[in-house]
Amino acid sequence: MSKKVIIIGGEGNGGIIASCIEDNRERFNDLEWEVVGFVNDYEKEVCGYPVLSGTNNISKLVENKEYYFMWGIHMIGRNILTEQVFRKVNIPQERFATIIHKTAFVAKSVILESGVFVMFNCYIGPQTHIGQCSLIMANSLIGHDTKVGALCHFSLGSITGSYITIGLCSDVALGAKVLEKRKIGNYAVAGANSLITHDIPDYEIHVGSPAKFLKRVRED
Ligand SMILES: CC(C)(COP(=O)(O)OP(=O)(O)OC[C@H]1O[C@@H](n2cnc3c(N)ncnc32)[C@H](O)[C@@H]1OP(=O)(O)O)[C@@H](O)C(=O)NCCC(=O)NCCS
Repeated sequence: MSKKVIIIGGEGNGGIIASCIEDNRERFNDLEWEVVGFVNDYEKEVCGYPVLSGTNNISKLVENKEYYFMWGIHMIGRNILTEQVFRKVNIPQERFATIIHKTAFVAKSVILESGVFVMFNCYIGPQTHIGQCSLIMANSLIGHDTKVGALCHFSLGSITGSYITIGLCSDVALGAKVLEKRKIGNYAVAGANSLITHDIPDYEIHVGSPAKFLKRVRED
């Protein structure tokens, strides 16, 4: 019997998570997970699934031990708020699902913490460690011996090289590329299509090729 997963988020990241799970079931006959609904503060329904609760009253769902959760909220540039909402829902680590789409390659030695989702056509190289509830979106590549903190988000087509360290709740945006051995701090953003040739300090957004400081992430 399939394990039941509830997606926390909306039709953006959450909808894509749902469609990956559906695809694993329909095309690959991988029935390990089934989506039963969403947690969302604004909608009654997301991508045809019922919204079962808002983020303020999620504890009732957590009490039901049948349910697992998948984190789908990643607000690029509002990384501090993303983490605040995550802390507020306070879901025990073991209640997060860890899901890999069947078209992804994840080397055997990779460590994926609970709540990690790896989407279509991704690659994660050997000895890499991905922190809790990080989201690796379609066509993203992450090299070997890279260490990624919790709640990080890799947008479509991002390329993160090897021996890289990324802190807590940071983003590598659409098509961005991070050269090997660089360091991206906590709550930091490698902007869309950027080439990261220098380290990005905590709270900073860098864009361009080679990337330069653009602004700090929002504090609110
Ligand atoms: C980091 C990011 C959020 C910054 O965007 P923003 O907040 O809209 O940027 P601003 O409005 O402060 O832009 C300030 C300036 O920087 C420029 N700029 C913004 N992002 C840029 C980028 N990635 N590369 C180059 N220049 C950029 C803007 O054109 C603007 O220039 P101007 O002052 O000459 O008009 C954006 O670049 C980004 O990465 N978005 C996320 C895309 C993504 O991954 N989505 C998820 C899909 S799965």
